[in-house]
Amino acid sequence: MTVHFIGAGPGASDLLTLRGRDLIAASPVCLYAGSLVPAAVLAHCPPGARIVNTAPMALDEIIAEMADAHAAGHDVARLHSGDLSVWSAMGEQLRRLRAIDIPFTVTPGVPAFAAAAATLEAELTLPELGQSLVLTRTPGRASTMPAQESLANFAVTGATLAIHLSIHNLATVVADLTPAYGADCPVAVVWRASWPDERVVRATLGTVEKAVAGSMERTALILVGRVLAAEGFGESSLYARGYDRRFRPQDAASRFMGVTE
Ligand SMILES: C[S@@+](CC[C@H](N)C(=O)[O-])C[C@H]1O[C@@H](n2cnc3c(N)ncnc32)[C@H](O)[C@@H]1O
Repeated sequence: MTVHFIGAGPGASDLLTLRGRDLIAASPVCLYAGSLVPAAVLAHCPPGARIVNTAPMALDEIIAEMADAHAAGHDVARLHSGDLSVWSAMGEQLRRLRAIDIPFTVTPGVPAFAAAAATLEAELTLPELGQSLVLTRTPGRASTMPAQESLANFAVTGATLAIHLSIHNLATVVADLTPAYGADCPVAVVWRASWPDERVVRATLGTVEKAVAGSMERTALILVGRVLAAEGFGESSLYARGYDRRFRPQDAASRFMGVTE
């Protein structure tokens, strides 16, 4: 048997890959990581599947569930919200499975930052204004952070920031970023992107604390950067007339003329 790690997406049940859906449907055991995995995704489990919410379980217990399924010859669908490459706790599970020779696969999902950007109808990399996106968080009880990965250090670059797991630290976020980005820098907070009760606040570093005051829902992403309110950015060269490129050689003298791959 195999443990299939599957990114379950940000919330909307149709933001699940076809591969993920098919693996869930073919697995007699489903272990899912708490309330951020929508019930409609669990509805793809086959009839009679063993469906377990792992939110209250310790790592040892989760691995024991996988080992039991392995002994019984059952595949497992292991669901985490968003994508598996960020803040999924997949790494420690893979390490345990490698140690006991249980095979696994990894299927990506739509991450929360992409869902939030879609909600905002925003491209987070715009010519000249911003070409880098930092996915980060502020320190929490469960996770320490490398000292160099502070918001103040990222702020030096001026990159667009997608700050996870931090809405309760909003005051610190504002204090750390304002010196470098300025109080007028655009901020967007998206709660539960792609869920039916999604909510958005658009503000600036100077106004965001007042704008979100009183909102206790923790599933929120804080996006910070000039790209969020940009209108006057340049167009990319890629589609500009006269830009000589592999897929659109400009004339017979082009170095791309006749290039097929
Ligand atoms: C444990 S992390 C999981 C991240 C996930 N693996 C991903 O790919 O986005 C949970 C944090 O991600 C963000 N998040 C997850 N789903 C979200 C959503 N639908 N809308 C806004 N933020 C979300 C929030 O910052 C939340 O505190």
